[in-house]
Amino acid sequence: MYFETPPGDRLPAIRTMAMPKDTNGLGDIFGGWLMSHADMAGAVLGFQRARGRVVTVSVNEFTFLRPVYVGDVVSFYTDVHKVGRTSVAIDITMFSMRNTDGREEQVRVATARITYVHIGADRLPRAIPAD
Ligand SMILES: CC(C)(COP(=O)(O)OP(=O)(O)OC[C@H]1O[C@@H](n2cnc3c(N)ncnc32)[C@H](O)[C@@H]1OP(=O)(O)O)[C@@H](O)C(=O)NCCC(=O)NCCS
Repeated sequence: MYFETPPGDRLPAIRTMAMPKDTNGLGDIFGGWLMSHADMAGAVLGFQRARGRVVTVSVNEFTFLRPVYVGDVVSFYTDVHKVGRTSVAIDITMFSMRNTDGREEQVRVATARITYVHIGADRLPRAIPAD
C-alpha cells in the first residue's frame, strides 16, 4: 500500500537530506539517488520480515511524481505488499519536506514496489518464516 500522506503512526525506514552532490543537469535531485535510497529502505523492512539476509530481485515499479530539490528532507515509508515463499514485495512511499515561502509542506515525490528474496549463507533462496 502506498501512503497518500506521511503516516503518523510509524517512523520512516530512512530519512535524509538531499544534497547538491546528488543533482542532475537541471539542478534537481537525480532519480538514481531516490532509487538507491528506496532500495535500502525496502531492504530494511524486507530484512525484518524475512528475519535475515535479503537481496533485491526486481524493481516492479517506480514512479517519480514530483521533483526533489536540494535541501529537501526526504522520508522513505515502507509497507509489506506481499509475502511469497522466499520473496517479499515492499511498497515504498517517498515524501519531501520542504519550506516554501516560510511554510513547511510535505510533498509525495515518488512511489515504488521492490521485491527482495531471502537468501542463506550459500546465497540461495530460503523460505521466509511465518509471521
Ligand atoms: C535473487 C536470487 C537469489 C533468486 O534466485 P533464483 O534461483 O532465481 O530464485 P527463484 O527462481 O526460486 O525465485 C525466488 C523468488 O523470487 C521471485 N522472483 C524471481 N524473479 C522475480 C521478479 N522478476 N519479480 C518478482 N519476483 C521475482 C520468485 O517468484 C520467487 O519468489 P517466491 O519464492 O516467493 O515464490 C538470484 O536471482 C540472485 O542472486 N540475483 C541477484 C541478486 C542481487 O545481487 N541483487 C542486487 C543487485 S546489485
